[in-house]
Amino acid sequence: MDLTPYRAEKIKESDYGILAKKFGLSLLNPEILEKIKKHTKELHFMLRRKIFFAHRDLEWLLDEYEKGNKFFLYTGRAPSGKIHIGHLVPWIFCKWLQEKFDAELWFQFPDEEKFLFRKELSLNETEKWTYENMLDVVALGFNPKKTHFLINTKHASLLYKHACMVAKHVTFSTVRATFGFTNDSNIGSIFYTAMQAVPCFLPSILQKKNIPCFVPLGIDQDPHFRIARDVLPKIGFYKPALIHCKLVPGLKGVGTKMSASDPTSAIYTTDTPEEVREKIMKHAFSGGKETIEKHRKLGGNPEIDVSYQWLYYFFETDDRKLEEIYFSYKKGTMLTKELKEYLIEKINSFLKKHQRAREKAKKILDKFIFKE
Ligand code: TRP
Repeated sequence: MDLTPYRAEKIKESDYGILAKKFGLSLLNPEILEKIKKHTKELHFMLRRKIFFAHRDLEWLLDEYEKGNKFFLYTGRAPSGKIHIGHLVPWIFCKWLQEKFDAELWFQFPDEEKFLFRKELSLNETEKWTYENMLDVVALGFNPKKTHFLINTKHASLLYKHACMVAKHVTFSTVRATFGFTNDSNIGSIFYTAMQAVPCFLPSILQKKNIPCFVPLGIDQDPHFRIARDVLPKIGFYKPALIHCKLVPGLKGVGTKMSASDPTSAIYTTDTPEEVREKIMKHAFSGGKETIEKHRKLGGNPEIDVSYQWLYYFFETDDRKLEEIYFSYKKGTMLTKELKEYLIEKINSFLKKHQRAREKAKKILDKFIFKE
């Protein structure tokens, strides 16, 4: 199994422990969850359910916080298409952290990344997606006074110099081994990881003091930060602390991905209620039995049922309700159709609010874009 930001293999639930071991991540154990809870009073459901499941240096980060050395948050999105609900998972968690720790958030939009890594994408297209994607982030309700958007090609004069400071310490053989580059890889893609490292220390530069950085991220992004963590101490900054989440399965089954290019694999934030209904009813992989009689007798399998998995990852925050659904589906008292109806209702009420906020975001977007 191999996982890099650019070559993701199918991941099953049982792979996450293996990946964590391979990458050298620490698991979020009960002690560290307690340590978080000391400051947040309650645990976010993504922590309770181990959707965020691993970390690097989180103990250190919280120790520093307890000493009064506050951290800032950093995450990002490479614009390349529509936002689907899987993308929102780390951002929703990030918003919770921003509130609980009263933290600044730096949000990077590397609008060159997918242009460099994907043949078919033009810079005009990534520019359009940058705008569209920023609206989705704003719509989640981040505090505009404490949230700063960095757009790589727009903030190039600010970022480039610092990217060079990183790049000087990263060899070609390191990025080749980390990302799987070959002789055919373009030189922009080879440099890119340096750009993604910059927000880990940019706030420290701007405020002329070392500030700890905390990055919520999908586990596929870890390779970039292995490099950043290696380089940052060499140029005088803290290593960024990380917290990793699992990837929400695609509609077609656990172990498949949601993709912007295949509308039947994902629910996008701009989908209409009818589109949502059709996608779930037609395409959401079901762990139910072929006939109602069989299902009633033998029960369904929530572990492989995408509708259940989406409730688990995203749409049912009440643990007791979720457990009830799990057991009645497994027993066969709840049918696939009923489970799907429940999910559709959850998605559509979320999207209704989100789409309204997304419209409003157009008016306030400018407040989020970092001004030097
Ligand atoms: N490379 C990420 C993507 O493909 C975007 C990104 C930039 C990012 N900086 C980040 C993701 C920091 C997580 C954390 O979408």
